[in-house]
Amino acid sequence: MEIKRVAVLGAGLMGHGIAQVCAQVGKFDVTVRDIEQRFIDSGMKMIQDSIQRFVKKGAISESDAKETLARIHSTLDLKEAVQDADLVIEAITENPPLKKSVLAEVDKYAPSHAIIASNTSSISITEIGAATKRPEKVCGMHFFNPPQLMKLIEIIRGLKTADETVETIRQVSLKLGKEPVVVKKDTPGFIVNRILIPALNEAAFLVAEGVADPEDIDKACTLGLNWPMGPLKLLDYVGIDTTLFITDVMVNETGDPKFRPSNLLKQMVRANLLGRKTGRGFYDWTEK
Ligand code: CAA
Ligand code: NAD
Repeated sequence: MEIKRVAVLGAGLMGHGIAQVCAQVGKFDVTVRDIEQRFIDSGMKMIQDSIQRFVKKGAISESDAKETLARIHSTLDLKEAVQDADLVIEAITENPPLKKSVLAEVDKYAPSHAIIASNTSSISITEIGAATKRPEKVCGMHFFNPPQLMKLIEIIRGLKTADETVETIRQVSLKLGKEPVVVKKDTPGFIVNRILIPALNEAAFLVAEGVADPEDIDKACTLGLNWPMGPLKLLDYVGIDTTLFITDVMVNETGDPKFRPSNLLKQMVRANLLGRKTGRGFYDWTEK
């Protein structure tokens, strides 16, 4: 199936970047939807800043930048966002009931041929698909943060996802300049987060236990493992709230205590220390 128009739900950390990649690299016509104008404004500002970085280093021209921005539309209206879409990419908050209710609504308004892909980090694609009347056209399309730079896309099959849906998303991923991998079984955390989230969580336990300072824990992982950024900086980058949502899903789905979140992560969310997005997490981001 040929994809021309893409709707992206959510203009946050991931949604803005996904919308940008779809317009800049995929040359798709994109509509971004969020629930309040201020979220759309901040998403569009992040897109403009990111595009300027590409222009500044000569990766794209000024006219490419203008054309990219002209391909991105925004709206607060869900029906308007999805009614002409060939592909809907959902990148809203990692909350299972919220995602299910929004996707049930998307199912009502999107054309019957449209594929619904979720950027969820952990939630069952089978469960998300069951909220719609087209589970064969629902799959996971998991981008990595920042979507403008990270090469991987995990494509996750739900129990009823059709082969054709997986193949279309594979083709779209390639058109976006990404490297797709197919996750054959719908399992919480898929591949990367099954490995990464326990590691990030363990770093929070180390802080809570006072084993070392955050800077030294990060230094140990950047120098000792060659990670591009340490686990605590990465937690701030991903969002402490999103990480806690992910651990909740992983604990609830598997019952495995190895995914149990550090109490420190819970306290940080209660204190609105969500990382980069609120200016403070393990680090102070207000001057960066
Ligand atoms: N848009 C455009 N360009 C950007 C950018 C953006 N949003 N962010 C950074 N860049 C560019 C910078 O301009 C810079 O370009 P030059 O090299 O040409 O100067 C380059 O990228 C490097 O940026 P920085 O110097 O600011 O920082 P860095 O060297 O640390 O690189 C990074 C940034 C690519 C994010 C790197 O730190 C990194 O790879 N970090 C790890 C990211 C990661 O692990 N992501 C996965 C998170 S888990 C996940 O996503 C799944 C989930 O479900 C939670
Ligand atoms: P975020 O908090 O930065 O953004 C979420 C956005 O969704 C907010 O702007 C919010 O207003 C919006 N939203 C909430 N309800 C909505 C609705 N009904 N319709 C449209 N927009 C709505 O979160 P994020 O980090 O961008 O995460 C979004 C999704 O991407 C989550 O499923 C998350 O697990 C996943 N993800 C996150 C990362 C990461 O590093 N943060 C990486 C990969 C995947």
